[in-house]
Formats: sequence, structure tokens, C-alpha cells
Amino acid sequence: MKLRLGVLVSGRGSNLQAIMDASAAGALDAEVEVVVSDKPDAPALRRIDEADPKIPGVVIERNAYPTAEAFDDAIADVLEKHGVELVVLAGFMRILGSGFVRRFQGRIVNIHPSLLPSFPGLHAQKQALLHGVKVSGCTVHLVDETLDGGSILAQAAVPVLPDDTEESLSERILKEEHALLVGVIRGIGAVKETGGPR
Ligand code: GRF
Repeated sequence: MKLRLGVLVSGRGSNLQAIMDASAAGALDAEVEVVVSDKPDAPALRRIDEADPKIPGVVIERNAYPTAEAFDDAIADVLEKHGVELVVLAGFMRILGSGFVRRFQGRIVNIHPSLLPSFPGLHAQKQALLHGVKVSGCTVHLVDETLDGGSILAQAAVPVLPDDTEESLSERILKEEHALLVGVIRGIGAVKETGGPR
């Protein structure tokens, strides 16, 4: 049985693309059931139409709801309606509250462009350059109520080169993000299939 995914996005959508590509190629036993964007103009939404117009792309804007909790609930309702088993935050630029986290406890993953716990939050690649680290990378972690603070599931390291710019480092990390995120989703699907470690 394919793992049923709900992917939350806010922007470019290259991680979403990696998931859809792997799934279409049969390299990932998972299906994107729904994509939720908090930005109506997110390029990620256009990628769905090109990849598979049958995947629904739902826009849920924060300013359409009186409270953060109501916004979170609206997203959670859509995910539940589509029978989502794993929620993937792929460049989703909002923090989800404890109500949302409880509804999908242990079933939300996020991809972050640094080796956490170093450089949580925004502009992780720039933070890495400013600190002069020689190695950076990306992390897939479980989402809890803290910012980029949940249990780490997997990491990939990349070198930081002397002449790196934010763009060149981000690009090197992004390639690893795509493989790492797909790999973690594959692993979670495999655990579901076998009923977990014995
Ligand atoms: C990625 O760098 C991801 O790690 C971060 O936001 C970026 C999203 O990129 N959370 P994309 O929208 O998947 O192309």
C-alpha cells in the first residue's frame, strides 16, 4: 500500500518536485494525495499541474482565518479529508501550533537546509557562511512545537567552499535535500509496510 502524503509548501517546490518525480518513477512507494500552499502564487502549485493534474493543490491563506489555530485546523482538516498518513513540510514557511502537531503526532517531517541543531530558522545557509563553518548540509526531522527542534531522522553533509556564496552553498545543499527527503519518506513507508522494527 502506497504511503499517503500531504505536502505543505510556500514557494519554489523543488522538494515537492523530487517527491512527485520519485513517486512517478516508481522509486518511492508513496503518493502525494494533496498539496497545501499558504501562498496562492507559489510556483510549487504550478509544478503539480505539470506533474499530475489529478493531485489537488489547495490554497489556505493565513489572513483568511481569525487565529493561527483556525488556520492550522483548516490545513489539518484538508489533510485528514485526503486520508494523509504523513505530512511533509517542504519549504513551508509557517510554524504549526501544538493543536496541529497533536493531530498528526509523530507523522510530520520537515526538511531544513542546515545540520541541525546548528542554524535553525530562516537563512540557514547564510548563517552557516557567517559562522565560517567548513561543513554544512541538511536535516530531515520530526516536527514538534519547537522551531526546527524535533527529533532528527536523517542528515546529509556538504562541504562549505572558500569562495561559496549563499546561492552556491544553497544549491549544493538543495541537491542533497531532494535525495535525503525522498530517502526518509521511503524509509517511513517501509516501516509502515513491515509494521516496524521487530
Ligand atoms: C529548502 O531549502 C528547504 O530546506 C527549506 O526551504 C527550501 C524550500 O525549497 N525549508 P523548495 O520550495 O522545496 O524548492
